[in-house]
Parts: sequence; structure tokens; C-alpha cells
Amino acid sequence: MNDLDTLVQAAQQAFADAPTPAELENAKARFLGKAGQLTELMKGLARLSVDEKKSRGAAINVAKQQVEAALQARRDALAAGELQAQLRAEALDVTLPGRRRGTGGLHPVSRTMMRIEAIFASMGFDVADGPEIETDWYSFTALNNPENHPARSMQDTFYVDMKDAEGRWLNLRPHTSPMQVRYARAHAARHAGRQPMPEVRVIAPGRTYRVDSDATHSPMFHQCEGLWIGENVSFKDLKVVFSDFLRQFFETDELDVRFRPSYFPFTEPSAEIDIAFASGPLKGRWLEVAGSGQVHPNVVRNFGLDPETHIGFAFGMGPDRLTMLRYGVNDLRLFFDGDLRFLSQFK
Ligand code: PHE
Repeated sequence: MNDLDTLVQAAQQAFADAPTPAELENAKARFLGKAGQLTELMKGLARLSVDEKKSRGAAINVAKQQVEAALQARRDALAAGELQAQLRAEALDVTLPGRRRGTGGLHPVSRTMMRIEAIFASMGFDVADGPEIETDWYSFTALNNPENHPARSMQDTFYVDMKDAEGRWLNLRPHTSPMQVRYARAHAARHAGRQPMPEVRVIAPGRTYRVDSDATHSPMFHQCEGLWIGENVSFKDLKVVFSDFLRQFFETDELDVRFRPSYFPFTEPSAEIDIAFASGPLKGRWLEVAGSGQVHPNVVRNFGLDPETHIGFAFGMGPDRLTMLRYGVNDLRLFFDGDLRFLSQFK
């Protein structure tokens, strides 16, 4: 091996051993710098003859090119390594799932309420809202349910030991029926003297309260009242409207609807409304979904209307029960426990 080969090898080794660009540049100086080994060899050419200069010069040039090539290769390698290190340090795992904002969902009973409202709105019913803290008069008396009458216990409630400004006892409304009276009275007052008076057609959904608690009863539950009063509204209309509603709500015509005679102080005649599905797990079983009836003349009078000219029907249904039937939920309390494992299934 001649001196040039040895030099080239030494340079290659030195470059390869340089761990950083700065150390590589130091190594370069040892071979290619002003006082570097190759530079010194070039200077030595001056002492040679013309022929010797030619061959020795060419050989030195080849060696210089090899050293420069080795230098460039190492520079590239170090730069690439630095880039890799930087990329590794700044690595971002784009496959990690991002932190998602939890999306909320509607409560299943809210969904039911919205369905009920949409279906009745399509049949020309207004939607009204009313107070959950009621007076004795609206909850019972105005609904033909006199003070101390035993029928009051049908809708037994939480009484508040407090009276309103007019001295009427307060309670948490045990049903949405007070809204019949509130809405119809406001309607009658608004349209006083108009002949004929526009019909009262309204539903009133909302929270209601009773002293009851088990798998199918909760102290707080929901009801949706319905009222249609006009000059010629009959029990037949109740049957048509409610049956039509149920078929739309459950999205099936394969539904039996039964009006079973019953008693409420504020309707006469009165009926419980039962349904039976033609298929599914509840097939053929009669299930109660609402109370209903033709509004009692005393109640029509409390609306501020004449029962001789105004007649109609009312119903009160249980949206919680409808939700249980629609989604196949068997415990009412699940709706009110606030357990997201249950609720998020309805998103
Ligand atoms: N308010 C009755 C109840 O709570 C239901 C009902 C409403 C019955 C309207 C007849 C008419 O059970």
C-alpha cells in the first residue's frame, strides 16, 4: 500500500469516527486544511521534476478526490442522522385517537315528548306549558274534585305547607289536568264574545308528582294532557285522534286500541286507553297508556264556557310509559337515575 492509499484510508477512518459535524470539520482540516496532509503533499510537488510532477500530481489528485468524497459522504450521513434524531425527538403519533369532546344526547323521555308534540302539532294542537307548583283549586277543585272528596286520593300528591297570594293551598301537581283549566280559561277570555269561538285544541306535556315509588312508578314522572273543546266534538273524535296518535307514535298499524270504561271526577263518561301490539315481546298484552273522557259539564263551566254549547274530550297519557314500550325498557327508575351507561344508548 503506497503512502497515498494509507492517507486516504486514514482520512476515511477519521471521518467515520467523527461523531458530530464539528468534529468532522476538525478531521477535515487535518487532511484538506491549509496545513493538512494532502496540502503538504501538494506543496512537495514543487521539488519534483516535470515528469514526476505529472504522475505524482495526478495520483495526489485522485487521493484528494477520494478524501473529499469520503468527507461529503460523512457530512451527508451526519446530516441525515441529525434529521432523524430531530424527527424522533419531535415525533407525533398521528395514529393516537384525539381527545374527543363528549357529544350529548337527548334523554329518551325528551325524545318521546318531542314525538308527541310533533304528532299532535300535525293534527292542529297547540303545545302549552304550565306551573309544576299548582294550587289546590287547579289541581282538584276546578276539575270537579271537591275538597275532602275521596277521589282526590286517586292523584295523591305532595302538599306544600304554604298558600299562594290568594290564600290557596299549594301542591306539586299530581297530573297535567290543571292545564286543561288554565289553558281553556285563558282561551275563553281571549276570545270572549267571538261567535263561534275558535276551538280549544291543546296538549300540555310536563313533569308531575305523586307519592309513589317502584319499578313502574316514580315520585316525579311525566304526563301529557290533551284537550279538544268545540261546539261539536264527540267521543268519536277522541277515539280517532288518540288511535291515530298511537299508530303514528309506535309507527305501526298493527296496534289494537281499547277504551275501557273507568272513572275520573273531571270526565263523564271516562275511559282508560289500553293498547296491545300485534307482534314483539309484548304481543297481545293489554297495556294502559292513558286516561280519558268527555269533559264533565262542571269542568267546562270552570273553563268559563257554557256546557250547553261547548263539549269535548280530554286525555292524560304517560310519556314515560310510552318510552318504556317504544324502547323495551322494563324499569322506569332507569330514566331518572342519570346513569350514562343507560342514557348514552339513546344518543
Ligand atoms: N289526570 C288523569 C290522571 O292523572 C288522566 C286523565 C286526564 C283522565 C284527562 C281523563 C282526562 O290519571
